[in-house]
Amino acid sequence: MTGIAIILIACSNTESKEKPTLKEAFKNKFLIGAALNTGEISGKDTAGLRILATHFNSIVAENCMKSEVIHPLEDQFNFTLSDQFVDLGEKQDMFIIGHALIWHSQLSPWFCVDENGENVSADVLKERMKTHINTIVGRYKGRIKGWDVVNEAILEDGSYRKSKFYEILGEEFIPLAFQYAQEADPDAELYYNDYNEWYPGRRETVTRLIRTLKERGIRIDAIGMQGHLGMDSPTLEEYEETILAYNKEGVNVMVTEFDLSILPFPKAGIGADLSANFDYQKELNPYTEGVPASIQEAWNARMLSFFRLFIKHADKISRVTMWGITDQDSWKNDFPVRGRKDYPLLFDRDNQEKPVVQMIINEAKQ
Ligand code: XIL
Repeated sequence: MTGIAIILIACSNTESKEKPTLKEAFKNKFLIGAALNTGEISGKDTAGLRILATHFNSIVAENCMKSEVIHPLEDQFNFTLSDQFVDLGEKQDMFIIGHALIWHSQLSPWFCVDENGENVSADVLKERMKTHINTIVGRYKGRIKGWDVVNEAILEDGSYRKSKFYEILGEEFIPLAFQYAQEADPDAELYYNDYNEWYPGRRETVTRLIRTLKERGIRIDAIGMQGHLGMDSPTLEEYEETILAYNKEGVNVMVTEFDLSILPFPKAGIGADLSANFDYQKELNPYTEGVPASIQEAWNARMLSFFRLFIKHADKISRVTMWGITDQDSWKNDFPVRGRKDYPLLFDRDNQEKPVVQMIINEAKQ
C-alpha cells in the first residue's frame, strides 16, 4: 500500500468516528430518545442498538410496559421484557421512560370488568389501578425517571374519551392515576401524553387538566405531544401554538412519539387512534420501490423544519423521542393501513443514517 493510500484510509476512519451525533448536537437543548421494540430489548437487533448507543440518550418502551403485556391477568405480572429494557437503559446511561400506565388501548381485558364482562364498581377499579401503578412504578423506583401516567384520554373536540376508565370513574380517573404514581415513586417525573394536540379542543382540555391537577396539589411535570405527523398536517404554526400554550401552564413539553409518515393518509385527522383501520389499496402504498427524489426532498424539508421548531423552543422542550429507530421498525408500516412501506424515521432500512440527520445536527449548531 502506498503512503497516500494509508493516509487516505486513516483520514476516512477518523472522519467516520468523528461524525457528529444527535445526542451531542442536542446536549444542552433536550434529550433525544427512541422507542425500543423486542428486537432491540432482547439484544437481537445489534445494528439498531449501535445506532441507539451512538445517537440517543433516552429510551421508552414501545410495547412491553402496556397493561396487556406487563399485567396480563389480575394476579399475574410479566416483567421479563421490561426488566431487560430497564437493564439495557441503565447500562447505557439512558434517561428511561415508562409507557403507559393507564390507557384504553392495549388494555388487559380483565382490567375494568368482572368475570361476567360487566364494568366493575368505582371502588374496585380504583383498587386495581392502584395495584397496577404501585407494582410497576414501585418495581422500577429510582430507575425509570419518567412515566406516561395517562395516555390519550381526551378527544379532538375537547370532550373526554368514553373509555372504560371514564365510564366507571369519570374525569377523576386521571387525577387518581397521577396521585397513585406520585405515591409509588415521589421522584419520578409524571406526564400526560396524547396525539393531535394541535386541535384547539383537545389542547384546551389538556390545559384545564394541568390546572386542576396543580390546584389539587397533584404533580404533573410535562405534557407529551406524540407527534405522529403526516406530510400535510399539522402546520408548524399549529404545533407551535400548543407548545406555547402548555409552556404557559408551567409544565415542560415533550415530543414523545415522533415520526413523519411519507405516505398518503386514507382520511384526514386520524392521528394515532389505534382503532382506525383502513383496507389496503395500491394507491395508498406508492413507494414500494423507493421514494422519488422530489418527495424525499419535501420530507427532508418538513422533518428539518420541525426540528428547527424544537430547537427554537429548546427552553420549553425537555425531550424529543423518535417512535422507533429505523424505518423497518416503524409501526407506521402497518398503521392505519396494514402492509405498507413507510419511511417515517431518521435511519433507513439498511440501518444507515439518512442525510437529514446531519442537516438536523447542523441546524442545532447554529
Ligand atoms: C403502537 C406501537 O408502536 C405498535 O407496535 C403497537 O402495535 C400499537 O401501538 N400511541 C401510543 C403508542 O401511545 O403506544 C402506540 O404504539 C402508537 C400510538
